[in-house]
Amino acid sequence: MTASTSHYDVIIIGAGAAGLMCAATAGYRGRKVLVLDHANKPGKKILMSGGGRCNFTNLNSTPANFLSDNPHYCISALKRYTPQDFVELVDRHGVEYEEKAPGQLFCKDSAKDILKVLLTECEWAGAEIRMNTSVSGIRQVAAGFTLKASAGTLSCESLVVASGGLSIPTMGATGFGYEVATQFGLTVLPTRAGLVPFTLHPELKQQLAPLSGLSCPVDAHCHQQHFREPMLVTHRGLSGPAMLQVSSYWQPGDQVHINLLPAQQIQHDLLTLRSEKPQSTVAHYLNQNLPKRFAQTFNELQGWSGPLQAYCNAEIEHIARRLGDWTIQPAGTEGYRTAEVTLGGVDTRQLSSKTMAALDQPNLYFIGEVVDVTGHLGGHNFQWAWASGVAAGNVA
Ligand code: FDA
Repeated sequence: MTASTSHYDVIIIGAGAAGLMCAATAGYRGRKVLVLDHANKPGKKILMSGGGRCNFTNLNSTPANFLSDNPHYCISALKRYTPQDFVELVDRHGVEYEEKAPGQLFCKDSAKDILKVLLTECEWAGAEIRMNTSVSGIRQVAAGFTLKASAGTLSCESLVVASGGLSIPTMGATGFGYEVATQFGLTVLPTRAGLVPFTLHPELKQQLAPLSGLSCPVDAHCHQQHFREPMLVTHRGLSGPAMLQVSSYWQPGDQVHINLLPAQQIQHDLLTLRSEKPQSTVAHYLNQNLPKRFAQTFNELQGWSGPLQAYCNAEIEHIARRLGDWTIQPAGTEGYRTAEVTLGGVDTRQLSSKTMAALDQPNLYFIGEVVDVTGHLGGHNFQWAWASGVAAGNVA
């Protein structure tokens, strides 16, 4: 250590959800903590999350809500820091929230409330936060690490990488954490955008263009993963919770299957309608069960016309299949530009599920989105950030 080196017990790179949670936890243990971030403000993704109201946890979160090449890794941390623990924290700070969908807790007022909780906790715990600070080099030394930062040379006993994934580069996302992992000999699994809207091939995009802005509840699935949530048609393609969820399981070239009427027994309904009102039409049935504009456009695309009595049983079955399993092949996704998360990342097989530290580098920790643990939509990603941040903060 040179005379001008500032020494900390713990340096955390990334003042996002995971980094701030880790900082407060380590600070309360009496550790001298510094959080570094190259952005001008902490917690930018918290502020933009949940449409500005931050879906900060999900009361029903279980390990089954996470994707990872090593699915058991997240269990321990999630068990030790539960959604209820985070709810107790926000309650202590008097944050008002509401359950917008089953289990999904959002701030009543603003996502700023959650960031304020974290910054207040960091302050009470004595953790220092330095923004506008980048790190250009990390070196391992006998007692820990030295960092070449834009603010000068820093040293620490424990280094926590909480620099997030690649989604939304305009918010400061970088591949920094992956570079650090590689530098220290850890494997980084291929990354891709998750919870991201689909783009469509020109023909389908043009056909669906008149429906832009329409949303309807569907059951969408890809690789046996079903999501019964709303789908939204946009001027670029398909979005809404159902499509975002499915996108995390989708690989280029895959088809996406959409049941447009998940609450209906489509074939049975059509057969009944045919026998009770033979003059009725498929268009009429769709109008009753889908947003009008959607019903009309979809019916026109399929070319279903004439009274139901003109359709034989096999044709009715075919129509029911088209509605219950509308199969599309997306052109791609909107990518990291709009993705809520990054799938893949630091391979958790080389990390301790108890401490989040690298098994071969016990003082080097990886938490939050930078690791290969990605949640479903609905507050699970923040729950992972809190749980992994606390797990590392308890030992770093
Ligand atoms: P996060 O990305 O939050 O923080 C990383 C920090 O590291 C950033 O402050 C960044 O500036 C800094 N950094 C990066 N590179 C650096 C470098 N080279 N040097 C220094 N600092 C560096 N989840 C959820 O559960 N509920 C929700 O409602 C939403 N909503 C949502 C909306 C949108 C639009 C997005 C993009 C994402 C969400 N998410 C979400 C996902 C959630 O925001 C995400 O999973 C967490 O923020 C991840 O927390 P981390 O702390 O790991 O990374």
